[in-house]
Parts: sequence; C-alpha cells; structure tokens
Amino acid sequence: HRDLLAIGQLQTHEILYLLDEAEQWVALNRQASKHSNALAGLTIINAFFENSTRTLLSFEIAGKRLGADVVNMHAAQSSVKKGETLIDTAMTLNAMRADAIVIRHGSSGAVRLISNKVDCPVLNAGDGQHEHPTQALLDALAIRHALRARGRNEFNGLRVTICGDILHSRVARSNILCLQALGAVVRVCAPPALMPAEIEMMGVEPFHDFDAALDGAEVVMMLRLQNERMDGQFIPSPREYRHLYGLTVERLGRAASDVIVMHPGPMNRGVEIDSNVADLPGTSIITDQVEMGVAIRMACLDVLTRRARGVDGWGEKQAR
Ligand code: CP
Repeated sequence: HRDLLAIGQLQTHEILYLLDEAEQWVALNRQASKHSNALAGLTIINAFFENSTRTLLSFEIAGKRLGADVVNMHAAQSSVKKGETLIDTAMTLNAMRADAIVIRHGSSGAVRLISNKVDCPVLNAGDGQHEHPTQALLDALAIRHALRARGRNEFNGLRVTICGDILHSRVARSNILCLQALGAVVRVCAPPALMPAEIEMMGVEPFHDFDAALDGAEVVMMLRLQNERMDGQFIPSPREYRHLYGLTVERLGRAASDVIVMHPGPMNRGVEIDSNVADLPGTSIITDQVEMGVAIRMACLDVLTRRARGVDGWGEKQAR
C-alpha cells in the first residue's frame, strides 16, 4: 500500500508486520538517546483540521526521532480559514514535495480525497466517524505488551468489551476491525441512541447493559461521548451517563481478574471512567497506549516512506 487510510485495507499479516516493526522503536524510545537517521532528508507534513493532543504530538515526535524534517499545519491558522478548498490545500501541500502527509479531518473520507491528489504516502490520523487506523494499531501493540506481561502470547479468543459512543467513534470502528483480524472476540456496549443500526454486520455482539457486557471481559476499552458530533441530539447528563455506563471499581469486578483497562483519550474522568480505575496500576494501560503511539507512528512512517528512500515497499519485501 502507498497510504495508510484504514485498518479495513490491511491483511492480518500486514497488521502484525507493523506491530513487529514497532518493537524496535519501543526499544529505541526507552533509551536515553532516542535518535535514528532512518528518515534523514525526508519532509513530513502533519495537516490537522481537527484538534488533537496525542496523535499530533506523537506523529511529530515520531518523525523527529526518525531524523525527518517535520512541519505542522494547524487548520485554524491556515488559509482554510480564508475559504481555500480541501483540494487546493492538498495540491499546495503536494507542491511542497513532502515525503509523507499525515492528516486529521472532521469529515469521513476527506483523507482519501486528499490522498488522490498528492504524490506521496498519506496517513490517516482520524477522519470523521470513519477510521483512526494508527490508534487501533497502537492499541493492539499495547494489548500485546500487557498480554505478554500476563504470560499470554496471542489475541486468539481474547474477550474485548468496547463501551461508549460507538455511533460516532472512528476509534471503535478501527479497533473492531483490527482486533477481529487478530482473532479477538469483540463486544460493544452503548446507549441505544449511540449504537449504529448496522453494528451486528460488523460481527460484534452488541449490548446496552454495561454490567452484562463486562461479564468475563479480558480487555475493557472505554470511549468518551463525542458531544461535538451529536448535533445536540443525544447528550445525557454526565451523572446519568456515569450511572449506566461509567467504569467504576465495583463494575470492574465483573470482568476477568487480570483485566486490562484502556482509553484512547481524551478522558472525561468521573463520566465514562472513574479516576481510581483510570489510574489503577497493573490494570490500566492508558499511559502505555500513549507510549506505544509514538512507536507505532514511527513504524508507519518508516514503512510507508521506504519507496521514497529507494528501499522496497513493504508489500514487495514480503512477497519475495
Ligand atoms: N486518541 C486520540 O486520537 O487523541 P487526540 O485526539 O488527542 O489525538
């Protein structure tokens, strides 16, 4: 693949290849000196049309640790505010001869549209309600590390519960696809108004009762309410939401004894997850997710820019 637009475009062996490639960057990032020259001389543009803390910073750190020149374009300070179209913005970025462009956009499909207009690899950093592929990859890497710490070596049959605003969540969609590809059994839980009508077509088991969804879960992934995508339709009060769908210590007792708790961030503490769960040592891997995010983004940038450096693309290398 030239681009990374969706988990749906990847075969299982390609997902595993990216996870394996990321391990060398996990090791590098844990050293005192974190620098590599793997992408020296390349230019990476991060074009973010929506807010971000983790994804933008980790792509920036990833590019810099690989030795690339990294430039960030924030839509709020760009000529998008003067009415420039997405296509014209894409053609402008292309004319600057970037070697990779990382894009976050509020509209599903916008990243693919841009990828059709530029000559370099495009990485989707989250597009509307569609996909957030590097989030799912970093989550898989974080789960793999946590499983290995528990003496378990694989995802096969792993019982994962994803709870929250499934309807608007690109994180949920990418994670469902990624975890299923790796062999996990995925349950999703949401209030009826926040569950997509076609969810069963994704091969997951839907729940509205969070206690039932937690029963025996080995991984619990909590998502926030995406109020900004709701058009004022369904916004329960934080108190009401916590009562029915908040992850409390008491509720967590229904899950497996060595359960792994995750959240992609940003968290709303005291709403979808209580602080004493989010900060529970050995159970919560929320900060590990952030650490893995840098390594996964290093792996994705490295693998996708191989052709720009005259190195075999990953598909070609594996086909031999
Ligand atoms: N998980 C995630 O995408 O966080 P940001 O919105 O802060 O990038």
